[in-house]
Amino acid sequence: MRIVVLGLPGAGKGTQASRIAEKLDIPHLSTGDMLRAAVQSRTCIDKKAKAVMERGELVPDQLVVAAVIERIARSDARRGFVLDGFPRTIAQAEAFDDLLHTRGLELDHAIELQVDEQILLTRVMARAREARERGEQVRADDNHETLRIRLDAYKKQTAPLIDYYRSKDILKSIDGLQPIDTVTENVFRVIRRTMLKGCRGDQRAHE
Ligand code: AP5
Repeated sequence: MRIVVLGLPGAGKGTQASRIAEKLDIPHLSTGDMLRAAVQSRTCIDKKAKAVMERGELVPDQLVVAAVIERIARSDARRGFVLDGFPRTIAQAEAFDDLLHTRGLELDHAIELQVDEQILLTRVMARAREARERGEQVRADDNHETLRIRLDAYKKQTAPLIDYYRSKDILKSIDGLQPIDTVTENVFRVIRRTMLKGCRGDQRAHE
């Protein structure tokens, strides 16, 4: 199964993507985590990415697309994957669709977690506080000022993906304001429905 999870910064993409990955036994690919790891390990992309991420803006498309292409070529992604934070622009989505098509593949779901903007600052500041309490590094972009820029980037560059995936008939919108477990149940309800349809389709094809 190949899934992308979309939503505003702090909507719960990482939380839900990791649960989907665990349950379906497919890798969870977060471009945010990949970029943060690259910055930490001081790879060649770190200089370009670090300042951009700290400002709350989007890293250039070609850099992220190249990282995703390299990652999904690995053997553990053969059975599928759940992408969190990618694609984030129409250009990324089109480049990714082209790549999948060349392999005879397509996305099964684009799951959008819908939340009110007002809740996001509370969530992001809670995550920063919890990281501090655990003695972990706080994300450089988890603060009031940068969240505003991340929200702006989402509205201008990422929100058009909702219509993009709706037009491909794979968009599923889910209320991300519910408690975490309820959101997960609703996500799996959507996934199961498609799996059942697929099974019925297979059965019919064999009749
Ligand atoms: P990225 O790491 O993707 O950050 P983001 O989109 O801003 O999202 P977050 O990780 O903040 O939130 P989330 O939606 O995953 O929510 P989470 O589950 O963590 O990107 C960071 C930066 O990297 C970007 O700004 C950009 O610079 C760069 N980048 C990444 N991908 C890129 C791309 N494709 N192209 C270009 N640049 C890219 O939850 C947040 C908190 O809320 C947690 O504490 C969680 O416990 C809590 N929570 C979750 N769900 C609920 C719930 N239902 N109820 C209550 N609390 C909840």
